[in-house]
Amino acid sequence: MRTLLTSALPYANGPLHLGHLAGAYLPADIYARYLRLRGRQVLWVCGSDEHGAAITLRAKKEGISPREIIDTYHNLNKGSFESLGISFDYYHRTSAPLHHETSQDFFKALLEKGDQFEVKTTEQYYDPSIDQFLADRYIKGECPNCGNPEAFGDQCEVCGRDLSPTELINPVSVVSGAKPELRETKHWFFRLDEHEAWLKEWIQNGTVDGQQLHDPKTWKKHVIGQCMSWLNEGLHARSITRDLDWGIQVPVEGAEGKVLYVWFDAPIGYISATKQWAAENGGNWEDWWKGEDSRLVHFIGKDNIVFHCIVFPAMLSAHGEYNLPENVPANQFLNFEGGKFSKSRGWGIELQEYIDEFKDFPNAADALRWALIRNLPEQQDADFTWDGFTEYHDKDLADKLGNFINRVMVLMHKYYGGKIPEIHLATDDVINVNANVFSSLRKIGDDIEAYRFKDAATAFVELATYGNTYLQDAAPWTLFKADPNDPAIAITMYNSAQIAAALAIAAAPFIPEASAKLRAVLLQKEAQASDWELAFVLLQKGQALLPSGHEIGKAGVLFPKIIDRKDDSRNAIIQLQRNKMASALALREEEELAAAPVVAERAPAKAEITFDDFQKLDMRTATILTAEKVKKSSKLLHLTIDLGNEERSVVSGIAKHFSPEEVVGRQVVTVTNLAPRKMAGVLSEAMILMAEDDTGKLQFISPPPGFGNGFLVS
Ligand code: MF3
Ligand code: ZN
Repeated sequence: MRTLLTSALPYANGPLHLGHLAGAYLPADIYARYLRLRGRQVLWVCGSDEHGAAITLRAKKEGISPREIIDTYHNLNKGSFESLGISFDYYHRTSAPLHHETSQDFFKALLEKGDQFEVKTTEQYYDPSIDQFLADRYIKGECPNCGNPEAFGDQCEVCGRDLSPTELINPVSVVSGAKPELRETKHWFFRLDEHEAWLKEWIQNGTVDGQQLHDPKTWKKHVIGQCMSWLNEGLHARSITRDLDWGIQVPVEGAEGKVLYVWFDAPIGYISATKQWAAENGGNWEDWWKGEDSRLVHFIGKDNIVFHCIVFPAMLSAHGEYNLPENVPANQFLNFEGGKFSKSRGWGIELQEYIDEFKDFPNAADALRWALIRNLPEQQDADFTWDGFTEYHDKDLADKLGNFINRVMVLMHKYYGGKIPEIHLATDDVINVNANVFSSLRKIGDDIEAYRFKDAATAFVELATYGNTYLQDAAPWTLFKADPNDPAIAITMYNSAQIAAALAIAAAPFIPEASAKLRAVLLQKEAQASDWELAFVLLQKGQALLPSGHEIGKAGVLFPKIIDRKDDSRNAIIQLQRNKMASALALREEEELAAAPVVAERAPAKAEITFDDFQKLDMRTATILTAEKVKKSSKLLHLTIDLGNEERSVVSGIAKHFSPEEVVGRQVVTVTNLAPRKMAGVLSEAMILMAEDDTGKLQFISPPPGFGNGFLVS
């Protein structure tokens, strides 16, 4: 069985930050490394997404060529990934000729089908001062709904209404400030609507034409939820060409000056990356994309769900022959110290910034990976904090893992000159430890295969805890004082060595650098591609990972603690980060003060109630699982919410403020003991708490990221 993995191609017009890493790259890296260690055939491709209006416009603004921008960021991002141990098999780029050719061939194949495209001529805004049609996002004007003077051509961010550029009052070009004019232009539309029926069946049941392609229970709920809210709103033909001079020429007569839409060519980038890999490494790219014994998994962040679960599968199916993804384990978003990553506000840390500023930090790459893994936004948004970074490092890596392995090595050298002692085999203790280590490795592996990377990391820490407890309880140092030849010491040390070796191997998907170091010292050979598989087979047969007589090396302190009374250097590196945050905050406050609007009047106070009145409310934390518009209502959304041990249907009057896909995955507070009632014919069994700001925009009242569902609010 082959496994083809993809991670979202990052745009090559800016640096990546921790949120990107936690979304689509680190989880895939754990998965890829694990499968390789199990001896499976894996190919993991990624690369730079180098087209799109954003790159052209930025180039125009800065007076440089798009080529300069993409070269800069392609190299930067590729290098950052390498420094952090992200082990792509191939990192390609969509400006490569092979990609252009592959995308054009794909387009032509769909064109030849005859029924996949329609060609339409429409009027679009054109900026005469830069000689360019304007993407929706690059037109600003007054919102016809709420009067916000700064609404975008695709959406008003104040009232949340979806807009089309021609609805804006007094539109201007964001690029030049010029007044745009309407001009006719011809575009190719992909008939996504024709794919709606089978996509629904495939997303909901995992079947296509009655054939079971995957088990939908293995897909994340929020992924299916977001897809279904799209599908239930109905799919429409989507324009897949643009009037731009940067991109892939549309390979058809009458399309001069037009390029493929970036979201059409980018996912084809996964295919061209595979082709390029095959050209350089031997192998047949088609085996990976079309073979019956090949599975495809897309790793992405939640903002890319629709493209990977609906649009690209429809493209693959329209083309024919290609496999559909078996899973798309999308992650939610990572925040930074309670706020969204924002370059303009100086909030967050970029990958290269981390690499540069932590260059003197021991195991810098592993330390960052570990902090992110322990707190991945797998089901809900999560929050990265420097406190968390420090705590995960010191408690897990230093106190548990590092400390255990270090003690085993030191004692082994002290008692037995570094050689695993002879034991009388198959005592209960030996059999027990073997069984525990085996089942622990299996649990970690099963979690990884089910895309539960946080659980896998927890199981890994539990194995380290088990080692510490085992050694502490057996206390060989006490026995040694009484009788250095006590055979119980040999058994304890023999068993501890097995646990240490298993930890060194199981660490590999998470903290690869430390794992490679540990494996080299313990196993006394270079880390091997299929170490995990070898260990698994040995343990299953009840055999030792480190047999009696095997000699282990020495290692210093693996993970020196950050909070260390004697040496403050690591803490100082983190302090620098806190200082940066403090200045970003101060700057923001100044700006906000300067721009502070006159405070709007707050809603008048309501009549007094008693504490008992308040106590009657049953309020709980919940997460929104699915959302769709209620038919014939412009105000209502129909939601299902997860209350921990039950799911409920809720009708909420927020449709003017939020689109369904925006709210899926949101954590909320609900009132759960209001009498159920029907609204617009749909049953509502709870109410979601919202607050209205000065502008009349509703906002969710949310518990902190990662907070569980069903907890009482009081
Ligand atoms: N560049 C896009 C983003 O960063 C992701 C493209 S994924 C691909 O959001 F599938 F289109 F390649
Ligand atoms: Zn508006």
